[in-house]
Amino acid sequence: MAIKVRLGAAGDCETCAQLSRIDELDNPGADHVPAEFFEAHIDDDEMFFVAEVDGRVVGFVVGQPMKGDWAYITLLAVDPRTRGQGVGRLLVDAILKRCEDLRFGYVTLFAPKFNKKTLGFYRSRGFIEGKDHVQFGIGPVTE
Ligand SMILES: CC(C)(COP(=O)(O)OP(=O)(O)OC[C@H]1O[C@@H](n2cnc3c(N)ncnc32)[C@H](O)[C@@H]1OP(=O)(O)O)[C@@H](O)C(=O)NCCC(=O)NCCS
Repeated sequence: MAIKVRLGAAGDCETCAQLSRIDELDNPGADHVPAEFFEAHIDDDEMFFVAEVDGRVVGFVVGQPMKGDWAYITLLAVDPRTRGQGVGRLLVDAILKRCEDLRFGYVTLFAPKFNKKTLGFYRSRGFIEGKDHVQFGIGPVTE
């Protein structure tokens, strides 16, 4: 299977929003992220990548710089039909390379504890597991 990883573009955002509508990426107290969330990642940081197979977008990763020299991998997902074939690995490789180019000293992320495969995936990519956390969220904070 030929997998092409490239920077995400405006035309990918709706597909990425659809791919993100999975239990692992739901947001307590809010809907799944919309296409506009991905559009906001098309910028000079270049931390939004998609993976294509036969011209179809089958996965994405988005991240962002934090203050200091930290970076955050915000969301990662691969189409369930295309998992286990190396797509996630290539996406993580791409964003870690970008983090290296940007000279970030630390890259952090949160993974869904209920998905043991995801935990195994990150461990296999060299990420070190931290303590358990419970995610909290709140919708619009303006009245
Ligand atoms: C996590 C996810 C992105 C992985 O994508 P994927 O395309 O299925 O993963 P890959 O096929 O690229 O797996 C890559 C590597 O992880 C390893 N791996 C995968 N599952 C594993 C497991 N359960 N235990 C150990 N290693 C595992 C593979 O062996 C492979 O290693 P290799 O390249 O050295 O052979 C995908 O499963 C997914 O979308 N999960 C749901 C969303 C999610 O949990 N996102 C994370 C929240 S930020």
